[in-house]
Amino acid sequence: MTVHRKEHVAVYPGSFDPLTLGHDDIIHRALKIVDRLLVAVAETSTQEKQGLFSLEERVELLSRTYAGEPAVEVVSFSGLLVEFARSREARLIIRGLRAVSDFEYEFQMALMNRSLWPELDVIFMAPDNRYTFLSASLVREVARLGGDVSEYVPPLVLERMVERFGPRARGDR
Ligand code: PNS
Repeated sequence: MTVHRKEHVAVYPGSFDPLTLGHDDIIHRALKIVDRLLVAVAETSTQEKQGLFSLEERVELLSRTYAGEPAVEVVSFSGLLVEFARSREARLIIRGLRAVSDFEYEFQMALMNRSLWPELDVIFMAPDNRYTFLSASLVREVARLGGDVSEYVPPLVLERMVERFGPRARGDR
């Protein structure tokens, strides 16, 4: 007997400014447990940030990086995350948790989102140990100050960072 089950569709939201190898690690882990993953680039972030790439550039870099992954769809959204998730009938949200310090903010967002849409569930995933110290905001700062970010971002993102900050971004002095 064939058992038909509903497709598991999840949203992996974030600013992705820029996409890091930590995000990439979470995306590959999520793909092992869901059928389709909507990587959702937020126009509005809850935390104030000094941005690096425009929304269009972030979407473009993600789309090109995951062009070979049919289960990944890269989209941008504005406004509330729950409204976007509901519009796509995606009842799962994936977020990466690096350390206890992430927990309070993440837990608060998860509960607020579920209070706004009770059908929602949030899955926290731990990245590989190699990436527990990594954050997009530190990558932005290191690149702005002339540091080598080649070990922290995927190749297409590095290419764009070299265009923006010069060869020092890939470690060339
Ligand atoms: O990568 P980030 O910046 O940590 O991602 C945060 C993000 C984009 C997931 C969060 O700021 C968000 O959900 N923004 C959309 C606006 C929204 O729904 N705000 C209410 C959150 S409870």
